[in-house]
Formats: sequence, C-alpha cells, structure tokens
Amino acid sequence: PKYVTPLVILPAMPTVAPGRPDGVDRYLIGVRQFRQQILPPGLPATTVWGYGSVRHPRTFHCPSFTIEARVDRPVRVTWVNQLVDRAGRYLPHLLAVDPTLHWANPPGGVAGRDSVPDFGCTPGRYRGPVPIVTHLHGGHTAEESDGYPEAWFLPDARDLPRGYATEGSFYPEFREKFEQRYGIRWRPGTATFRYGNDQRATTLWFHDHALGMTRVNVYAGPAGFYLLRGGEADLPPGVLPGPAPALGDRPGTAYHEIPIAVQDRSFTADGALSYPASRADFDGYPGPYSPVTDVPPIWNPEVFGTTIVVNGRTWPVLEVERRRYRLRLLNGCGSRFLILRIACRPTSGPDDVALPLWQIGSEGGFLPRPVLREHAVMAPAQRVDAIVDFGDAPEGTVLYLRNDGPDEPYQGGEPGTQFEPANRATTGQVTKFVVRARVGEDTSVPPEDLVLPPCPPLGPAVKVRPLALLEQESELPDGPVAALLGTIGPDGTPTAERWSAPVTETPKLGSTEIWEFHNATEDAHPIHVHQVQFQVVGRGPDGTAPPFDGEAGHQDTVVALPGDVTRIRARFDLPGRYVWHCHIVEHEDNEMMRPFQVVR
Ligand code: C2O
Ligand code: CU
Repeated sequence: PKYVTPLVILPAMPTVAPGRPDGVDRYLIGVRQFRQQILPPGLPATTVWGYGSVRHPRTFHCPSFTIEARVDRPVRVTWVNQLVDRAGRYLPHLLAVDPTLHWANPPGGVAGRDSVPDFGCTPGRYRGPVPIVTHLHGGHTAEESDGYPEAWFLPDARDLPRGYATEGSFYPEFREKFEQRYGIRWRPGTATFRYGNDQRATTLWFHDHALGMTRVNVYAGPAGFYLLRGGEADLPPGVLPGPAPALGDRPGTAYHEIPIAVQDRSFTADGALSYPASRADFDGYPGPYSPVTDVPPIWNPEVFGTTIVVNGRTWPVLEVERRRYRLRLLNGCGSRFLILRIACRPTSGPDDVALPLWQIGSEGGFLPRPVLREHAVMAPAQRVDAIVDFGDAPEGTVLYLRNDGPDEPYQGGEPGTQFEPANRATTGQVTKFVVRARVGEDTSVPPEDLVLPPCPPLGPAVKVRPLALLEQESELPDGPVAALLGTIGPDGTPTAERWSAPVTETPKLGSTEIWEFHNATEDAHPIHVHQVQFQVVGRGPDGTAPPFDGEAGHQDTVVALPGDVTRIRARFDLPGRYVWHCHIVEHEDNEMMRPFQVVR
C-alpha cells in the first residue's frame, strides 16, 4: 500500500548541556539498533540502526533527527557506538558483511582479498562487533573530525573477542590530535568530533563511513540532515518559506521548510531489511563465489531497492497548504540516481509536470540565482534546495513527487528515450501531496523575485590534476565489473590505484586546484571530495562544455558522465588526510575511494 502514512517531519536533535557560555553546541549521539514502522501499519516493523540523542531514547530514528547548526558557532558531537544488547554484548551486523573487501576488519586489522584464507571467518559469516565512524558530508572539517574511513571504532561491549582490533589505524592518531587540541578525553566506543561551521549556510548530511562497509552500515539506517544557517551566505528569516522544526516547538506547529530524504530499500515478508547476501541473490549476476577470481563473493556492483522510503516511511503522504514550501531534497540512496519532479498523476510519463521546482541551492548553499526546473537529476548524496508553490493548486488537488531515474545504473540521457524510467508502480513514485486551505498569510518572497546571497567564485587554480575513473573486468564470465580510481600520467596513460596504494593527490595547503575526472567507464559516477565545496567548471568529452542547470553554485558531489571529462575547481585550506570517492556506496566500498593529503 502507498500513501497511507504521513510524511515524518524530522524534529531537531536535542543538544546536551545547553546554555554553556563558550558558544559551542554539544551533542551526545549514539548509534543503536531498534524497531521502526517503515512499512505501512499492519505490516511488520523493521529492525534498523539509527542515530539519536543518548539522553533521549525517543529521539532514535532513521533517518536521524536533524542537527540545526549556526555559521561560526562550532558543534561538538560525541558519537557513541551503542550497537550492543541490553546485557552489553555486541550486536552482529543486520546484513552480510563481505570480509574479502578491503574493509575495517576487526579480526585482522585492515585486510584485503589476498588475506581471505587467514580470515578466521567464512566469507559472509562475519558475526563480530560492528565498526562505525560518522562523516559530516560536505563539512569543512578538520581531519581528526572528518570521519576518516580508517578511524572506525567498535562498541565498548563486554564480550569483545580477544585479539580483535577495537579501532582503525587512524583512530589513535586522530584521538590524540583532538585530545591535545581541545583537552577532551575520548572514551572507548566513542569518537568526539568538532565541526567548525566556518562555511556557507547549506544542507549538509551525516552518515556512517566505515571502511569497506559503508554500503551495509548506511543501508541499516545511520544517516541524518545537518542544516547550517546564518552568516553572509544565508537569507534573513522570513524571506524563504518556513519555519523548520526547532527545539521546543509546540506540538501541531505547521512547517513550511521540510527536509526530505529519499532512499530505496527492499524488505523481506517479515519486514526485515533485505540487502543481497550474495551475488546469487541479486538477479543479473551469477553466483557463487569462486576463490580463484578477483571478485569478492558477496559484494554487488550496485543494489537497487524495490520500495521508496522517504524520511523513514515507504511512500508517505503530506498535506500541504495552498502556499509556498521550501523542500530540502536529499538523494540518500546507495546506487540509485533520482530524477524528481512533481506530477499530476502517480504513473504518467515524464511529460507530466504539474508544478516546477525553483531550485535555489545545491550541496554548497544557495545558487547565484533561482533556477526554474521541470525535474532535478540527483545522484546519490546530492541535495537540491527548492521552492514549490502549491498556491495555485485548488484545494483538494492531489499531486505526486515522482521519480524518472532508472532502476539500474545511470549513464546520462533522458528518461523514456535513452533509458527506461523507474517502475511506474513502485520506485517511480515517491510521495503524495494533498493540497489543503492555507492557514495564515504566505509572506515569503516569490521565487522569481528572490535575490540570493552572492556565491563567490573560487580563485584561479595553480594546478590541474587529471584523474581517471576506470573499470576492472571480472574473470568470471558475465561477472560483475568493479570501478576504480586512478591517476593519469603525462603521456595520458591511466593507472588504477587501490585504496591501500600510497597517496597520489597532495594539494598544497591554501592552494586551488582543478581536478579533471576522465570517466572511461560505461556508467555515471557521483564523485565526492571531502573538506571542500567545489565549483563545476567544465563538462563534455574534452571538459570545455558548460556545467548543467543547477551547477552554478558550490558542490561537494558531481556527476561524472561516461566518456566525459568533468572538471571541478576546489580550494584546499585544511591540512591533513581526507578522502575522495564515488558515492555509489557499493563502488566506494570496493576500491573506488582514494586518500588525499593536503600538505604544508
Ligand atoms: Cu557522503 Cu565520503 O561521503
Ligand atoms: Cu562509482
């Protein structure tokens, strides 16, 4: 059944120790296992993981309650791995971990597929404690707080197996840096991170980032919005539709700014999350594992869920007033590109556009000016900040947020002509809107009259770095293809580099560089660079075509289309160790991620 559950308006995350005079917002946020009614009432609840405020058990939800942050007011979060049962014993993963990937691997430190024989656990049968580490996606964050994939940590469980590593190789180094800098002690099973919020106001999000298991950790739930407001790159209150949920709101408050996280998930008949536990489970690919090949046994190159989950409920419905709304859209899917639009009917074609989206922002804050769009193409991890005007729709009108993206890897192009859009009956539908009478006046500025804050261009680049997106063929007939990142030599030859290879990208502190993503694969890959909000400067076969609509602002994730050179300009002004990677999480977990080091 669809459109029986109201859209969840995610509340604000409670702080701890409010009112301290030092101007830092403090949070104590755990990751726990709990049950949530994701499917419609009458169907079983689902066991999930999610974030919540440790002191407020009712705040545990996936996606998470929203962190509301202010520009130049730092946020300090102590993240706690609470994946333990009531007796304090660790909980195993809800989903199949592939121990042959280059992953966190507590039984043996950082491993790789070469070490499979010594694993001490059958591939797919890792039942040990779960490593986690949180990354604030899009954050301008110091390295020790960025959630480096090898800074993971286990819960402080009382039955941790002897000989296990309880933390990743970078955890001790970052803990020491943090403790020295801020005089705070980290406890076992926790990591304390500080977010400076010295960047443009925007829609950020946070999610798990543990090495080689981000896809399964995030699928289980841990993700949430982090809204950064204020400063010169924001608008005064009242200009845009609002309010958004805040701490201390009265029940029944009407919200006109609504963050919407769209995720695809599959479920078993008993309500459990379903994610392929082998390639044989996933149609289109042959199983089973053959140890003589270089192909991991469980991992799938992409995974597409059969339902659409929005703010933690399948296909919800939202009653809207006849007025303008600010929708902060997030593609929180693992592999799926979304092409979102607002249509009159639930199952019509791509030409059915009932209301346009006025896009006002992307990952890095406001665009230079609003852009009128019939639909928004959103890669995994991308955000679109949009105004939708329901004011002209008569009361009682029913509208649909629809998805025309494909139920398979995206390669660019238009739905209906170049590829088959998503299943009209399922993944092609997202949310229903029912238009109701307006309560009170709409005093927000009409989008066509909006003057958005300036979006300063980044300075000239001192270096151009050609980088390669490559494909690795399987030795299995018709086996899955894995994508890799690499460098491109002066003669134009690409070289694939695995995660464990020495760092090759070493921007100088304070410098601006152009990174060129030469995509030699057949699919589009959303490339995300930590630390920075970059500008897209060129596209097309030689990188000289202009950016797309909606790419005039700053971004942290860019779609690199197959066959194209996608050029970005970024300024690296924080020293230390970060990562860049494809945000198709299956790719990221299987080597499509590289470290980079900003050097002095
Ligand atoms: Cu949203 Cu490196 O991640
Ligand atoms: Cu990819």
